[in-house]
Amino acid sequence: MLEFLPTHLADPAATDLLGESLGKAALAGGVIALVGDLGSGKTTMAQGIVRSLGYQNEVTSPTFSLVQEYRGGRLDIFHFDFYRVESDHELLDLGWDDYLEQGGLVIVEWPALFPHLLPEGTIWIQLTHENDGRLAEIIPSPCG
Ligand SMILES: Nc1ncnc2c1ncn2[C@@H]1O[C@H](COP(=O)(O)OP(=O)(O)OP(=O)(O)O)[C@@H](O)[C@H]1O
Ligand SMILES: [Mg+2]
Repeated sequence: MLEFLPTHLADPAATDLLGESLGKAALAGGVIALVGDLGSGKTTMAQGIVRSLGYQNEVTSPTFSLVQEYRGGRLDIFHFDFYRVESDHELLDLGWDDYLEQGGLVIVEWPALFPHLLPEGTIWIQLTHENDGRLAEIIPSPCG
């Protein structure tokens, strides 16, 4: 899957479809970090991931709840949005470490706000505007 990156995503459907492919390839305990500016397509990609793991018509952005949980599909999914998180403590109090250890799939929007909390092995995907669409590429962990 990752060998298709970098790739141009011409429209929202292409972003969603790449998410679907990522979801199909996702392994238990995996973490996908979605990097990109406001409106770059992170939630669109997350929607494709979530749907591909067996959750239909259930996807909302976790913007107003820090984490959105989906259970009962091929993998449980824990979809975080760090945008409104104030501190490490807030995430740790929420049970961040437990989420990582549940053998589900963790998806994080705005991961670069707390990069040190993302475990080794996290797949970092960056979305940037490219012409009228987006460019999706793998980037190295900002923590090295
Ligand atoms: N490849 C694409 N080409 C053009 N528009 C796209 C593409 N992918 C997503 N979009 C559109 O970009 C807009 C923002 O998408 P989305 O909400 O997924 O971004 P986001 O990165 O989650 O934003 P936020 O930072 O606010 O959470 C939506 O209207 C979506 O349909
Ligand atoms: Mg979003």
